[in-house]
Amino acid sequence: MKDISVPAATAEKSILKALRGETQATPPIWMMRQAGRYLPEYRATRAQAGDFLSLCYNSELAAEVTLQPIRRYGFDAAILFADILLIPDALDADLWFVTGEGPRLSTIEDMSGVTALKGAGDIHDHLAPIYETVRILRRELPEETTLIGFAGAPWTVATYMIAGRGTPDQGPAHKMREEAPEVFDALMARLTEATIEYLSMQIDAGAEVVKLFDSWAGSLKGEAFQRYALEPAKEIIAALKARHPETPIIAFPREAGDGYIGFANATGADCVALDNSVEASWAAAHVQKDGCVQGNLASSHMVTGGQALVNETRAIVDAFRGGPHIFNLGHGITPDADPENVQLMIDTVRST
Ligand code: CP3
Repeated sequence: MKDISVPAATAEKSILKALRGETQATPPIWMMRQAGRYLPEYRATRAQAGDFLSLCYNSELAAEVTLQPIRRYGFDAAILFADILLIPDALDADLWFVTGEGPRLSTIEDMSGVTALKGAGDIHDHLAPIYETVRILRRELPEETTLIGFAGAPWTVATYMIAGRGTPDQGPAHKMREEAPEVFDALMARLTEATIEYLSMQIDAGAEVVKLFDSWAGSLKGEAFQRYALEPAKEIIAALKARHPETPIIAFPREAGDGYIGFANATGADCVALDNSVEASWAAAHVQKDGCVQGNLASSHMVTGGQALVNETRAIVDAFRGGPHIFNLGHGITPDADPENVQLMIDTVRST
């Protein structure tokens, strides 16, 4: 008999096959924000935890909400329930969430703000509950389900730390990178190091894949995109590959447009996640030619449903049929989505 070095159960997971470059008749599927407010069972557990951050740091309940969409829909992957802003929290920036509005943080204004942050190696005590969530999930997930860990990319996390909140145009971060580049670079360096440490610990705890969310990469153009989106991704991926060569990495430079072309090769990512501003046929020709892609149904279809959802889902599956593909939305599902539309999307993907 042939000697297989990878355990059979691991080798059979459809998400891992796609990430290793295999073209499959039916793409595996999961959904950004699949554990979220559109699900009544999520809202109940969140109420039990008290608030969103308490839910993130409660390992048992965070594992429970991660499992809810797996039980309900049988997605091929589970994504760790946490948030990209836990890194600033662990670095000692204050973080709180205002209901109905979003995150608030203490702001980084000058070099003293950066030097007051903790060292990248000192985040693990604070983040220990997250690693525990990962360990619980590896025990409790069905064996065919892949566990994805994640972190925010340095640019996206920096935009929140500099502004102290979400911003429509990331103006304060752009201002700092132009007017105080030494402060900005010091913050980016700290975040890059912390992200490597954090993802490496998630992998040690049992994450089988990690994803880097650069949600605001699209506001970086030209040389700035290379310097603050591409270069940090490359550095983080190189460090993780050196420590964990077998762990696939998904990069999500959201709204990068032409910046998606060559991104996987330039950074070493195993897969590029696509937002829905790019056409699937364009992405098949220009991005999937280099390897696995993930995406990219508009999340608005989860609100509106109907024949348009079915048609667009089929068009995306067809466009990416010639290469490795993981079906997903182009961004997170929204709280006003109808859980029945999620089932319709899954049924359509699996029957197309
Ligand atoms: O995808 C998943 O299900 C995994 C968990 C996850 C969350 N946030 C849970 C969450 C992941 C991967 C994230 C990433 C995240 N967080 C990003 C990058 C991805 C993206 O959506 O662009 C960003 C920018 C954040 C920061 C953040 N967290 C904001 C701006 C907000 C408020 C906006 C909102 O949707 O309410 C959050 C809160 C948040 N993170 C919620 C969830 C389920 C909603 C919190 C609640 O229950 O009230």
